[in-house]
Amino acid sequence: MNGPESLSRREFVAGASSLLAARAVAGSAAAAVAANAAGSAAANTAGAAGAARAAGADKASALAVHGGKKAVQRSAGGGPRWGDVERRQLDETLKQGSLFYWQGPQTQLLLERVQKVCPVKYLHSCSSGTAALHIAVAAAGIGLGDEVITSPITDLGTVIGVIYQQAVPVFADLGAGTYNLDVADVERRITPKTKAIIAVHLTGNPCDLDALKALADRHKLILIEDCAQAWGARSRGRPIGTVGHFACFSLQNSKHITCGDGGVVGSSDERFGPLLQKFGDKGGDRRKWGGHQAFATNYRMSELQAAVAAAQLTRLEAIAAKRAKLGNLLTEKIGKLPGIVPHQVHPDDRAVYWFYFFRMKPEAFRCGRSELVKAMAAEGAPVSGGYIAVPLYGEPVFRNHAFFAGRWPVKEMGLTTMDFTKHKCPEVEAILKTGIRVTIEEHMTEEYILEVAAAIEKVVMHYAV
Ligand SMILES: Cc1ncc(COP(=O)(O)O)c(C=O)c1O
Repeated sequence: MNGPESLSRREFVAGASSLLAARAVAGSAAAAVAANAAGSAAANTAGAAGAARAAGADKASALAVHGGKKAVQRSAGGGPRWGDVERRQLDETLKQGSLFYWQGPQTQLLLERVQKVCPVKYLHSCSSGTAALHIAVAAAGIGLGDEVITSPITDLGTVIGVIYQQAVPVFADLGAGTYNLDVADVERRITPKTKAIIAVHLTGNPCDLDALKALADRHKLILIEDCAQAWGARSRGRPIGTVGHFACFSLQNSKHITCGDGGVVGSSDERFGPLLQKFGDKGGDRRKWGGHQAFATNYRMSELQAAVAAAQLTRLEAIAAKRAKLGNLLTEKIGKLPGIVPHQVHPDDRAVYWFYFFRMKPEAFRCGRSELVKAMAAEGAPVSGGYIAVPLYGEPVFRNHAFFAGRWPVKEMGLTTMDFTKHKCPEVEAILKTGIRVTIEEHMTEEYILEVAAAIEKVVMHYAV
């Protein structure tokens, strides 16, 4: 008998997976693509199953965690993220008489280059992504008791500025596979106190900016784009940062491009753009120095950082394009596996995968996430469970409302009824419990990603119910 019914499901799945893994390891990308196609559809064809058996399924398909051969045999590769371009730019900088940002040639070069990837009228360099967001919030006039709706799965830097301006972050739920703001839930959380939305393009996957901008316009809200993880991303062909009223970027070490720490904030809006420099530089307008009308902290970036960041901008397009390709390839390969929710990207957007994030459907597996992740890691896949440990509202400093020396003046003054211990975003909590993160880096090859996909498939098929 040749049909699948002649094999137990486990034997059959194991055979198909091992075939996929073996081919991906041994062969060219083309062979691996073919193997994967065979593997996924596979599994319903007697031919593939028979071939898998012939390939010595039993031995080869044992999970690496059980002593079998690893699906990922290639190295992830690597290499320096900076070199001669940055060195030359730093040499130039050291010939200057000043390393201060104002009218500094490196700062100007950096901003010119950022303007090419994010063509907004006003741009200002600053010391971090957190600073960029704080400057945006301050320039937008957000203050005492104002509410700002944003994502609870993000870096704390998204809301630090909101809290420092004595405003109130209100966390909305996220899309199950996009991990970006659920526009309907954002709308539900709008109150008369709402002043702004901070749209975090998590992992470099663009938010639904058209829907968010329409919502913001309808309610006269300011839309701030947190592009910290999204250098080079595009929303329906438009560069990220150009739809909202503000664009905020991070140049922190882990980001697509970096100068160790740094940020850039931008706006094309005549109400806000001219204020950016002031709110990043102690409240003073350097074009007409003298007299502080505004109050702000020092978020300046030196010329040395600007030089490195400007040099890094020359690498951006290649980095963004490569990450986009690798992440999309992973979706193509694992997207239809049973029990898996792939990273959901709109077909007309460019996601730049600061990392790749997929979910397991718990009911579809005979094991929990930690076992699944352990088995995938044993296969050599660069995976880990979850992202941040808890949604931001679950962090002790939020639960204790203890932002300023253990107190939260806005709450004590009765200007907010926010109670973070009662805040709930069900999808967010499910995402953090069921999400599996895959490292994507620009030096990885497509062949390597195919092996990672094979590793994920092998483990998924082993544990699928
Ligand atoms: C989404 C997001 N927003 C804001 C930030 C804050 O950026 P930075 O670390 O440069 O202050 C980060 C970076 O960690 C981030 O990932």
